[in-house]
Amino acid sequence: MGKIIAFTNQKGGVGKTTSVANIGAGLARAGHRVLLLDLDPQANLTKGLGVMDAEQNVYGALLGEYALRAYTLRDNLALVAGSPALSGFEKVKGNDLDREFLLKDLLAPVRERFDYVLLDCPPALGLITLNAYACADMLFIPLEAQLYAADGLEKVLDLVTRVQRRVNPALTIGGIFFTRFDGRKVLRRETAEQLRAQYPGLILQQAVRESIALSEAPHLGQDIFAYAPGSAGAADYQTLLEEILTR
Ligand SMILES: Nc1ncnc2c1ncn2[C@@H]1O[C@H](COP(=O)(O)OP(=O)(O)OP(=O)(O)O)[C@@H](O)[C@H]1O
Ligand SMILES: [Mg+2]
Repeated sequence: MGKIIAFTNQKGGVGKTTSVANIGAGLARAGHRVLLLDLDPQANLTKGLGVMDAEQNVYGALLGEYALRAYTLRDNLALVAGSPALSGFEKVKGNDLDREFLLKDLLAPVRERFDYVLLDCPPALGLITLNAYACADMLFIPLEAQLYAADGLEKVLDLVTRVQRRVNPALTIGGIFFTRFDGRKVLRRETAEQLRAQYPGLILQQAVRESIALSEAPHLGQDIFAYAPGSAGAADYQTLLEEILTR
């Protein structure tokens, strides 16, 4: 049965979507069957992987309007599209008795067809993220390696603890990793060291360096391994995904 892994941080722009797209692509290239889910109303993952005309998305499926539809991107890699309409999820479903388990129910019949299901969470800790935590086996938290990187981290960890206690006792934190890392900048190095001391065992070894190619690839609807296989971004995500598989 597919392992469900969520990439989450309430802070915006830290590399959640970039990580889901490229770690997913890397896992698929290694022969794993991978399903990506775009849970963000911004739908950056969907657009960045070149899916522009998805008629069926995760929101309609969550509302029960149609079955969950996965668009095949390449061998071993499929995507459930996001939608701006997801911003209305909380308003529409917020009072349902089983509101935090809607995604879990949706994935239950399909997860056996995949080895990994990767969830791209929105930059908020609302009902969508709660649904992701309720069905995930493991979550990873990307942090942009800079001053104030850890702002909001406590809130994420606090929600994880509450979810573990009440909703999903099987949820584990796979780790925290740095993105947009520039080892030449003293400030960034210091932030990373400080967090390693503060959260021993939780910070992954591999950081993702600042790499122009990583920001260019989604504009062409490509992952980093297709767009720039020799780039620092491809090397870092390859090593990072291997480390993730050990957690
Ligand atoms: N290692 C990197 N090097 C260079 N640019 C990067 C890197 N990682 C991410 N970016 C760029 O930074 C921006 C934010 O990244 P991304 O969209 O992955 O973050 P996010 O956490 O998903 O954001 P949001 O919270 O808005 O969903 C994007 O323009 C992306 O291309
Ligand atoms: Mg995103």
